Formats: sequence, C-alpha cells, structure tokens
Amino acid sequence: MEYLVEMKNMTMKFPGVIALNNVSFALKPGEVHVLLGENGAGKSTLVKMLSGINRPTQGEIIIGGKSYAYLTPKKSAENKIALIYQELSVINELSIAENLYVGKLPHKKVAGISLVDYKTINENAKKYMDAIGLKRNPSTLVQDISISEKQQVEIAKALASEAKIIVMDEPTSSLSIEETEELFRIIRNLKKQGIGIIYISHKLKEIKEIGDRVTVLKDGCYVGTREVAELEVDDLIPMMVGRKITGNHLGNREQIEKDNEVIFKVENLTRKDGTARNISFEVRKGEIVGFGGLIGAGRSECMEGIFGAKPISSGKIYLRGKELKIKDTYEALKQGIAMVTENRRETGFFQNFNIWQETSVTTNLKKSKLGGVTGLLNEKAERAKAEEEVEALNTKCSSVDQMTVNLSGGNQQKVIIGKWLAIDADVFIFDEPTKGIDVGAKSEIYAIMRKMAEAGKAIIMVSSDMPELLQTCDRIIVFKNGEISGVLNSEEATEEKIMYAAVTVD
Ligand SMILES: Nc1ncnc2c1ncn2[C@@H]1O[C@H](COP(=O)(O)OP(=O)(O)OP(=O)(O)O)[C@@H](O)[C@H]1O
Ligand SMILES: [Mg+2]
Repeated sequence: MEYLVEMKNMTMKFPGVIALNNVSFALKPGEVHVLLGENGAGKSTLVKMLSGINRPTQGEIIIGGKSYAYLTPKKSAENKIALIYQELSVINELSIAENLYVGKLPHKKVAGISLVDYKTINENAKKYMDAIGLKRNPSTLVQDISISEKQQVEIAKALASEAKIIVMDEPTSSLSIEETEELFRIIRNLKKQGIGIIYISHKLKEIKEIGDRVTVLKDGCYVGTREVAELEVDDLIPMMVGRKITGNHLGNREQIEKDNEVIFKVENLTRKDGTARNISFEVRKGEIVGFGGLIGAGRSECMEGIFGAKPISSGKIYLRGKELKIKDTYEALKQGIAMVTENRRETGFFQNFNIWQETSVTTNLKKSKLGGVTGLLNEKAERAKAEEEVEALNTKCSSVDQMTVNLSGGNQQKVIIGKWLAIDADVFIFDEPTKGIDVGAKSEIYAIMRKMAEAGKAIIMVSSDMPELLQTCDRIIVFKNGEISGVLNSEEATEEKIMYAAVTVD
C-alpha cells in the first residue's frame, strides 16, 4: 500500500518543552485517520509539520517517494497538503471566491492593465462550492456567513488547491449537530475521491462515525494505532489518559429539593434586540442548571443580557433575594456574576500575557475601583492563585510564567476557565466551557462545578453537547427561537427530549 504521506520518528522541541518525541504516523488514500490525545499531547504540533509551520527538530517526512527533513509552506502546497486550523483562518474582509484564491488570484489584461479576473474566480469558486453543497453567492463577504459556512469555505479552498491530504484540527468544535452531519457527508465524498484526511477531535463519539483508523498520542509520545471497526470508543480512554474517568456528575436530587434555597433568579428578561425573550428561571443551592438547544437559539444572547454585555429592555435579576442592577459587565462582576464566554478567540485571553498575569486579570478587575482604572497588584499572591488553578485544572505548562499564547488550544481554554474560577463570584455562567477540552479534563471541570454548586454558588452551563448536559446538569432548560421551550429534570431528561423541545414547531 502506497501511503499519501509517512512521518517517521518526528521530534519537536520548543524552548523548555518536548512537544513531540519520536512519533510516527502514516496516512492512506481515502481514509480518515483520527489523531487523538489529551490537551497538549502534540496533535496540532504534528500536523503543523505537514503545513510547514513547524520545522521538526528531527524526523523524516516521505511524500510521493521523496524524503524531506522538513516542509516549507510552499513545499507543503506543492505536495497538495491543506490544513484547516483549530482556529479558522479565512479572511473576513474578502469574498468567498477571493478566499479560495488568496495569494494566487488570476489576472487578465484589459487595455494593457492587469486586473483580477473576477469572472473566472467566481465561476471556479462556484464549482468547488457546489461540490461541497455551500449554497452562497461566491462574491458574498465571508464576514456575512456563519461559522460552519466559513469552515466549508476552508474545505472549498482545500479543494481549489487540489489537495490530496486535508488536515482538520477540531473541525466540529463550533458546529451544531446538523452542521456536523453536513461536514461528515462532505468528508465521505472526499474519501471517495481518494483524498486522505487527518482528523483531530475531542468528541469521542465522532470517531466511530467518521474514522477508519485512530492514532493515540500521550505527552508527546506515540501510544498506538488501531482500526476503528475493531474497537469500542471506551477502549481508547485508557490509552489517552491512563486513569479512570468518572462519568456521572449529577447532584443529589433529595439534597437539592431539601435545601431548595433559591440562589439566583431571573424574571422576564428580554433583550433589546429581541434575541432572547421572556426568560425566567431559578438556580437553587447545590444545583447545576444547563441550557440546551440548537446553536443560535438565543442561549448565549440571554446570558450576555444577564451579564450586562448587551442591553435588555426588561427583566429583573435577583441574587439571594436581593435585586441586582447591572448596567455593564463591570457592574456584573462587582455584584458577583462571572461569565466564561463562548467566543474565546475574541474575548478570551491577552496575547502578551503569561499564565499568572492572565489568571489575575479578572480578580484585579473585581477588586479595582472606578470601572477598573485603579487597583493594587500583588504579584506573589497572583502567582500563587494561578498555580492553584493550574493544579486544579491540570493545565499542561512549563510554569505559570509561560505565555498563554504558546499553550495548546485546550490548555489555553483551561487558563481562561481558571481565571474565572479564581474570582470569588456567587454566580458562574459557563458558555460552552469544554469546547476543545479533552475527556479527562472535562470530567475535572464538571467536578469543580459540582463542588462550587454544593458550596452555594449558582452554576449555569450553556452547552450544545447533549451528553455533557445529561451527565452534569440537575435541570436542563431548553431554548428555541429566543424563548424557553422546555424544562427537564435530570431523571426524565434524554437526548430525544432535549431535541424535541429544541426543534418542535408548535
Ligand atoms: N510555539 C510553541 N512554543 C512553545 N511550546 C509550544 C508551542 N507550540 C506548542 N507548544 C507546546 O507543545 C505541546 C503540544 O501542544 P499541541 O498544540 O500540539 O497540543 P494538542 O495535542 O494539539 O492539544 P489540544 O488538544 O489542547 O489542542 C504543549 O505542551 C504546548 O504547550
Ligand atoms: Mg491542538
């Protein structure tokens, strides 16, 4: 069998870190080869060697009978490799068609002047868009399309470059169930054309659905490669984490009923822009309340309204019976509300901060006066707090002095969660907290949420991951079109019931 690409004994050292240690990997034509491992295991590092971003410290890459010590971005493109990054890299200000031809726009001469040949690129782009079912006008600006469509643009771009090897690094982390199905349909078509796909995901369920083979990495080392048809997903967990994972994080129903103390209450909240309407709910002591529904159903919009990030036209918010007046997010923070936002790339972390600086941002803001203008800094205490959070979340880093930007995707995410856990809030809103987080760390985060709930904090979790809602939340509130369409207790909740409430037209 001729491999599309073979990577032999790859090693990658960064200052102070061995990100990959002697890892081998091979991709066959027409297969989906899943790359699996905990946050920081080295998955992104390995595939970035194929795109020419990472220059291996050691190893050999064999493509089409040729051996390379490393690839440059140019060599990577020549060898028909396309990489769709963990964070999408389409350019919002350009049209779909322009994105497909970035850096290689065809020109034509008109009266001696060289002009971009828009007719040709739009026609060609349409061909690739049709192939993957992206129903848009090629001249539409990318900023006007959804995340899943942006991802389809990335795939169309890979096709336009006639890629034979396509790498997808956590492609479904921001996709809804339907969008994920659509992506899988596209992937199955790519396979039929003999294209090989390297697929990275933390959603273990997807492996059975789309994978042919799976290779597991752990702490930068190779653990093993298996045929997906011959295994159960649960077999992979010990290969990845080497310890047992507790599945159920539900609270004690009787205790919750008995305490029954309402910590947090929202009454008839409606956002000015109407994206969330007439929202009322309570969170009791010891309880984790989940918010389910389709992407775009208004859950994040509702939380932004509560947190003062977006204006509301009506609604009352109570903490332990006392009404809160929240004008903006600073006020929300001051009055005891913390929110881990969904869109972490834009509202996530500071590019030029290390871990302890990042972790102290929220605490300092809460302590400060005059809307965050003044405040005392205390490096020693801040470091200690950051170390505590790193330990609690098992964040993989060399020390709290490491720059957040140099961490793996999932570990950046843990730093962001850590900085919110670090503040002493009464209400914690987690919006898709485990996006990009590995299976072991997820379980740790749920356990922390549970502990906080039992300590009397109001815990709210918005999640599109139904298994996550079911194993963690004592009550699930379902949204549809900006309104609450159902409330389910943990004993009665099932994926079907959540879906039913999320989509049924009444
Ligand atoms: N540019 C860099 N400088 C320093 N260290 C780096 C750099 N890039 C990656 N690392 C380190 O290499 C290790 C592997 O990171 P990598 O991004 O490959 O993990 P991953 O398996 O993709 O994890 P995740 O699931 O969290 O995305 C991590 O410890 C990370 O901190
Ligand atoms: Mg990664």
